[in-house]
Amino acid sequence: MPIDVLIHGALGRMGREVVAAVCKDPQLRPVGAVDLKAEGPRLPLPGREDSIPLSSDLGSLLAQTKPQVVVDFSMAEAAMNVARLAAPGKANLVIGTTGLSPDALSEMDRLARAHGVGIIAAPNFALGAVVMVHLAKVAARHFDYAEILEMHHEQKLDAPSGTALSTARAMAEARGKPFVHPGTEKESLKGTRGGEMGGISVHSVRLPGLMAHQEIIFGTSGQTLTIRHDTINRECYMPGVILAVKKAVELKGLTYGLEKILGL
Ligand SMILES: NC(=O)c1ccc[n+]([C@@H]2O[C@H](COP(=O)([O-])OP(=O)(O)OC[C@H]3O[C@@H](n4cnc5c(N)ncnc54)[C@H](O)[C@@H]3O)[C@@H](O)[C@H]2O)c1
Repeated sequence: MPIDVLIHGALGRMGREVVAAVCKDPQLRPVGAVDLKAEGPRLPLPGREDSIPLSSDLGSLLAQTKPQVVVDFSMAEAAMNVARLAAPGKANLVIGTTGLSPDALSEMDRLARAHGVGIIAAPNFALGAVVMVHLAKVAARHFDYAEILEMHHEQKLDAPSGTALSTARAMAEARGKPFVHPGTEKESLKGTRGGEMGGISVHSVRLPGLMAHQEIIFGTSGQTLTIRHDTINRECYMPGVILAVKKAVELKGLTYGLEKILGL
């Protein structure tokens, strides 16, 4: 029997990808779509003749469609409301929305346990990015030097990326001490050596034509090791989201981070 899935934030950039990915997986069945911007009563499904109920009212659509899993890619304040409405109705939850506070996460865990459902939340569903950090933690124990080069489209607001910072933090933690950071006697152009965290120089490139890319270069005597991850579009998140939908029905309580369900 396929798993019935309702998508919350279904008309957003990520929501539309999730609708398409759920449609493509024979083990899943889209049953409903919710979005603040909903206008018509039904959402046509990509690549199919049929459509599913569409509403801005999550409560009534939950009652009408009784999904086993709700996938949320909306806004942090909305995600908490989704958990409060979905868990009592025994719907499991996959949350990709970012910016959830520690308080929101503990309330989600409480709700999930109280109602015997699974909630999987992850700030990054890109499978390759999560595997990259895992591999970097392994390599960090064997190399004294490391630098991170992260490359994104020119409209990205922050630098360096959150992923670059969390990767550097995880690498330094895995090593148990900072990396060796070679000093530069004369920096002729300020900032050329990048920012520094845990002894790791972090460099940010911003160019049109790029999406999200990260390279971690380790160095020791006579050798370097490079781990690189490239994403070319939002589809990169879908293998992780689909895996989480299938796992959410088996778990109880809150599971935070894709790495937890990848068995890394
Ligand atoms: N975890 C990950 O891997 C990952 C990857 C990409 C984006 N994100 C996060 O996913 C979220 C959505 O990103 P996006 O680029 O799709 O944004 P978006 O603005 O394109 O889409 C959000 C959608 O949610 C809807 N929405 C907002 N509040 C709502 C509410 N109260 N009820 C119902 N619908 C509501 C909006 O109408 C919109 O259609 C953001 O928090 C973003 O940071 C997470």
